[in-house]
Amino acid sequence: MTINKNIELKHFDNNDSFIESEKSLIEKTVEATYSSYAPFSKFYVGAGLLLENGEIITGSNQENAAFPSGLCAERVALNAYAHSKLDSKIVALAVTARSEHYKIPQLLSPCGACLQVMSEMVKRQNSDFKLIAFTDENGYYVAEGVASFLPFGFDLA
Ligand code: THU
Repeated sequence: MTINKNIELKHFDNNDSFIESEKSLIEKTVEATYSSYAPFSKFYVGAGLLLENGEIITGSNQENAAFPSGLCAERVALNAYAHSKLDSKIVALAVTARSEHYKIPQLLSPCGACLQVMSEMVKRQNSDFKLIAFTDENGYYVAEGVASFLPFGFDLA
């Protein structure tokens, strides 16, 4: 048996094809990298959530000397959103990074744990959202839904 999943990522060199609210999301996501606390990796990540009502919530990675106690930018943003019990749904999530130590990857995919949390959020709000992974160096990778980045997420039956 073979299971086929439809994984589609689009790539854009610049932000011309984004609507105004997405352009603001991209701008705020870059700003968020400046509140990153990453003295250990020196890899500064910003994440942003665009809500249906136009509101934008951001997060950045927060590291800790006890490494597993740190948290990724995407989960900082998603948990802040969930905690504030906002009734407006997430329509897009953007992530970016800059670094002093590492070469920025061609495709800056969120880590598996963050994708799993996104997948839970898709279920929770009963609607998917766009994912925009972008960097200065490599442009914009866009998926219309979380499953393009995490085709086989965990779920309870
Ligand atoms: N990081 C994120 O913030 N998001 C991801 O999806 C992957 C990695 C952070 C964690 C750590 O602070 C730094 O990047 C280097 O791994």
